[in-house]
Amino acid sequence: MIDKIKEHIGEAQAFTTDNKDALEVFRIKFLGSKGLLKDLFAEFKNVPNDQKKEFGQVINLLKTTAEDKVKAIQDALESKEVSGGIYGDLTRPGEPLVIGSRHPISLVKNQIVDIFSNIGFNVSEGPEIEDDWHNFTALNLPEYHPARDMQDTFFIQTNPDVLLRTHTSSVQVRYMEGNKPPIRTISPGRVFRNEAVSSRSHCIFHQVEGLYIDQNVSFADLKQTLLYFTKEMFGKSKIRLRPSYFPFTEPSAEVDIYWGLKTETDYRITKGTGWLEIMGCGMVDPNVLKNCGIDADKYNGFAFGMGIERIAMLLYQIGDIRMFYENDVRFLEQFKSSI
Ligand code: DAH
Repeated sequence: MIDKIKEHIGEAQAFTTDNKDALEVFRIKFLGSKGLLKDLFAEFKNVPNDQKKEFGQVINLLKTTAEDKVKAIQDALESKEVSGGIYGDLTRPGEPLVIGSRHPISLVKNQIVDIFSNIGFNVSEGPEIEDDWHNFTALNLPEYHPARDMQDTFFIQTNPDVLLRTHTSSVQVRYMEGNKPPIRTISPGRVFRNEAVSSRSHCIFHQVEGLYIDQNVSFADLKQTLLYFTKEMFGKSKIRLRPSYFPFTEPSAEVDIYWGLKTETDYRITKGTGWLEIMGCGMVDPNVLKNCGIDADKYNGFAFGMGIERIAMLLYQIGDIRMFYENDVRFLEQFKSSI
């Protein structure tokens, strides 16, 4: 009898499972109300007195062995369940990650930066809060120059020397003051003008300025650079330069690209001409070079400036400039597929 119980002890010790049901079968077999131990305890009274002690000891050992076993396996299974709870069902299909999208202004800016980086331009930046010198005077716009009126400047408090830059041309000045030719740089950034907000204009917008200074730079260099840009950016290979005026360039021109007249939208955006104005440009006025500490007898160069919103509106057919600043996710989400 005692040997039989010892066998059961061995069996209980060896038992192992990772299955709850199998554990329950084990528990019922040893510890259940009709289980082995119940029978053995009932048997106790029939055991001869001289064996009672040993018999008691082995069935107690069997009882604690079975109980400890059940407890140990239960704990192991529970901790498995808890970790399953943290990681979930590992065979479930993954949940899609909601990723954001780049702002269309950033997309266009990055594209412009890429196009010019490919031909050796670096990127430079300057402050949005500027002084009179960098925004106006150094750019050949002295005090009382009539062209200053066109810029609708925001001045900071009562000090007319501190203002929000009205164009990124201020970065040209800073870059020339701090670097020696040859210079090839583009300067994207935010600019500010005190204009009535409408579907076509805003008091905050973005520009990219370009500057190229070296020896013997020609107007043809400017033209070819801009042609390369319009081909890359818009896939259009016809441009025209109309004579214009900017205080900081001489001669100056406005650049139009031939957009075409294939669709109704083409008619609308080009006002029936097929041509679209996209930027201002010119040969840097020698006065500007002198103001920035560059020898105007030795060096010359060209500059250009364009509005990023205008280009983004063209490329993505956005009809209202205010959409760029409203942060409406229904608008922004549409740019997800672009990088
Ligand atoms: N700064 C001009 C503006 O805000 C744009 C511009 C025109 C920049 C001609 C230039 C340039 O560098 O050469 O309208």
